[in-house]
Amino acid sequence: MSKKKIGYDDAYSLKTPEDSIKLYKKWAQAYDEDFALSSNYLSPAKICSFFNKHARNTDTPILDVGAGTGLVGECLNKTGNKKIIGIDISPEMLEQAKLKGCYSSLVSANVTKKIPLKNNSVGAVVSAGTFTHGHVGPDAFDELLRITKPGGLFVLSINSKVFIKGGFQEKFSRIKNSISVPIFNEFKAHGNNKDENFSKIKIFASIFRKK
Ligand SMILES: C[S@@+](CC[C@H](N)C(=O)[O-])C[C@H]1O[C@@H](n2cnc3c(N)ncnc32)[C@H](O)[C@@H]1O
Repeated sequence: MSKKKIGYDDAYSLKTPEDSIKLYKKWAQAYDEDFALSSNYLSPAKICSFFNKHARNTDTPILDVGAGTGLVGECLNKTGNKKIIGIDISPEMLEQAKLKGCYSSLVSANVTKKIPLKNNSVGAVVSAGTFTHGHVGPDAFDELLRITKPGGLFVLSINSKVFIKGGFQEKFSRIKNSISVPIFNEFKAHGNNKDENFSKIKIFASIFRKK
């Protein structure tokens, strides 16, 4: 009997960091082909392109939050960004990212807890597909702001369905004195594909700088 492919329902039924560890352990090897390619997943390329549009050459190193198999890092690296740190809770996803050879270092950690990086040590934070249902919520912003240098650029994909319900809107208002006025750009996470669940997902690319 053939194994059922992991898909939309699995990714959107996660509740805890332990659920993520279990799911992505099973999904890591097939993620690029069975998910990203087959669902025409656009978020990593979009986040990479917003980063390149807004970045200054001082926005380095770049931290990729929920780096997964390295799709954002791969695009950033190909477009000339050379110091990229990937962080993810799933060691198996990071093993796949390592094979792409585009990160200068990889850190296995839960970003909803204390992040094992020094204060003011990263020049930019990027993320795709991680600020979403059952993955990482807005409370991680406090730690991400702590480890980012003053003036550092943030380019984050936030799933529109969790933007208000998941507390991101409220968080932006609470941290407004610590960041520049955010720019929100809406885009579709997936291009044309066979699964209409994926076609409905909208993202707010959230772009701002730490003051
Ligand atoms: C949908 S994948 C996105 C991966 C990649 N950025 C992309 O766009 O293809 C979400 C990633 O977030 C990671 N993740 C989930 N919860 C996390 C947490 N608390 N801390 C760090 N990474 C987490 C998962 O392991 C997974 O690799």
